Amino acid sequence: MSQVDVTPVADLETPLKFAYWVPNVSGGLVISTIEQRTSWDFEYNKKLARIAENVGFEYALSQTRYAASYGADKQHEATAFTLGLLGATERLKIIAAVHPGMWHPGVLAKWLITADHISNGRAAVNIVSGWLKDEFTNFGLPWLEHDERYVRTEEFISILRGLLTEKDFSFEGKYYNIKDFTLSPAPLDIPGRPHPEIFFGGNSTAAQAAAGHTADWYFSNGRSLEGFRDNIAGVVAAAESGKRTAPQKPRFGINGFVIARDTEKEATETLREIIAKAHRPAVEGFASAVKEAGQSTKDGKGMWEDSSFEDLVQYNDGFRSELIGTPEQIAERIVDFKKIGVNLVLTGYLHFQEEVESFGRDVLPIVRELEADLARKNGTELNTSLLPVVNLEGASA
Ligand SMILES: Cc1cc2nc3c(=O)[nH]c(=O)nc-3n(C[C@H](O)[C@H](O)[C@H](O)COP(=O)(O)O)c2cc1C
Repeated sequence: MSQVDVTPVADLETPLKFAYWVPNVSGGLVISTIEQRTSWDFEYNKKLARIAENVGFEYALSQTRYAASYGADKQHEATAFTLGLLGATERLKIIAAVHPGMWHPGVLAKWLITADHISNGRAAVNIVSGWLKDEFTNFGLPWLEHDERYVRTEEFISILRGLLTEKDFSFEGKYYNIKDFTLSPAPLDIPGRPHPEIFFGGNSTAAQAAAGHTADWYFSNGRSLEGFRDNIAGVVAAAESGKRTAPQKPRFGINGFVIARDTEKEATETLREIIAKAHRPAVEGFASAVKEAGQSTKDGKGMWEDSSFEDLVQYNDGFRSELIGTPEQIAERIVDFKKIGVNLVLTGYLHFQEEVESFGRDVLPIVRELEADLARKNGTELNTSLLPVVNLEGASA
């Protein structure tokens, strides 16, 4: 195993969790004319979700997008799509991405409680503060300056949690005023779970602070190990500042685009082909739109702050996590992320149904062995009772 230090945030007993990006927008996960055997339609996604839960994925994440960007000229709405997928699966938890500014937190809390009841506790939300200015301004909605978006997001999540957990909830803030509200029914009462999970996506200093204060889960874009270690440190510092309102410690998810092939050479050649066939105008348009994210902050830190043209071909910087190589190499890299504090790996692929299945068959068993070794070498045990049910026979694409 490689020489990455285990940091104090790392949780070596709990098995890593795996998620995939729901391809609910057209064009796949890379802005390239390379063949992508992935479809954004519901039937494809239903089958994909069933494969994923059978091979050991615990989560799927639906994207929220209202207008074309990065070539995704058709988009299905995230919360509706999530409900459909929850109805088509039995164990998978499905996370719907939602923008404050598009939704009222009380309306979202109501949606989430209903989805929780319908799905027996499997619905979650990812609160994203947005970067695609035109979606807001062309809807006639205000577009807040970068760090102000996170002021609103922090209020939004505090209210969401308040309405999920309290009766007669009131809140007076800069963006919202809630008065004596009780939502009934409450979410399901599930042991060990204070309420349906609240994820959060963002990279900037303001994002890390907001997540540290409020989110159950912090998601970042693709990052190097060093880069993600910095993000984790920022979130942990905010969580320990005395301003954290969430009941449990934050947990961490990293995005990565997976290219698992029999040889490292095949994998890197596939990456080269994806980039060589990049749809240049779409990547350049995207690069210009995302200046509203990291680059617009005061300290210039945040998502896509220094992404190259090649990085942006996977529009969530997924190549930068380097999940590219043989199954063994990818499993080792994933366990290196666990050593620095990652709890969940969010994955994307060229050919979703086929590659989610092969990831489950070929990569996950190696990850589990390496995780068990890592725990033992550090004087503890991997808690295998927390591993998800796997049913490879039921998974064939
Ligand atoms: C895992 C993840 C998922 C995201 N999903 C969406 C999404 O569905 N829709 C969206 O507009 N932005 C999404 N974002 C982007 C965020 O809204 C935000 O603009 C971005 O993280 C930039 O943050 P920063 O400016 O704080 O660095 C996502 C971000 C991450 C890390």
